[in-house]
Amino acid sequence: MPIDSAAFKEALRGWASGVTVVTSRAGKRVHGMTVSAFSSVSAEPPLVLVCANRASLTHGVIEDGGVFAVNILAEHQQDVSQLFASSELEDSRLERVGWTEGKTGAPLIDEALASLECRVASAHHEGSHTIYIGQVEAVHTTDATPLLYYDGGYRSFGCDD
Ligand SMILES: Cc1cc2nc3c(=O)[nH]c(=O)nc-3n(C[C@H](O)[C@H](O)[C@H](O)COP(=O)(O)O)c2cc1C
Repeated sequence: MPIDSAAFKEALRGWASGVTVVTSRAGKRVHGMTVSAFSSVSAEPPLVLVCANRASLTHGVIEDGGVFAVNILAEHQQDVSQLFASSELEDSRLERVGWTEGKTGAPLIDEALASLECRVASAHHEGSHTIYIGQVEAVHTTDATPLLYYDGGYRSFGCDD
């Protein structure tokens, strides 16, 4: 018997995570959204996963393009997280940040703590979301400090908003 969704959401408020912007490209179309459902899967071979709502525009671009980049946000990029979660600004998000094209064509967001360039290895429909397993083809790292998300709000090490 499934639990009710309020109890489910309440339990998950206690899960602390980083924040990413997952970007993709399909032909000339580039897009991205804020994603906290990201995890490492395997080191050999290097695999990660992201969970994308099938109602999101980003989901459609990943489906068509078969590639995505996971941009792990640094602590000063809370505004970037909000921008890429905003439905009002969905058509102009990438015009409002600096980015470069990665080797797969997916955008790499300037000043991200790290970016992982992935090719879709498999996709699994579960509930409202698709779990994309990505084979990591390139990584870009810095020594920045991560932006955190916990209990419905943004956090940083040693200082809460
Ligand atoms: C902190 C945070 C984490 C989020 N994590 C996810 C996620 O893991 N998967 C997802 O599909 N949407 C997630 N979202 C919601 C999307 O970012 C949001 O619905 C976005 O507007 C979708 O954009 P699109 O339809 O233009 O692709 C998250 C939003 C926030 C603020």
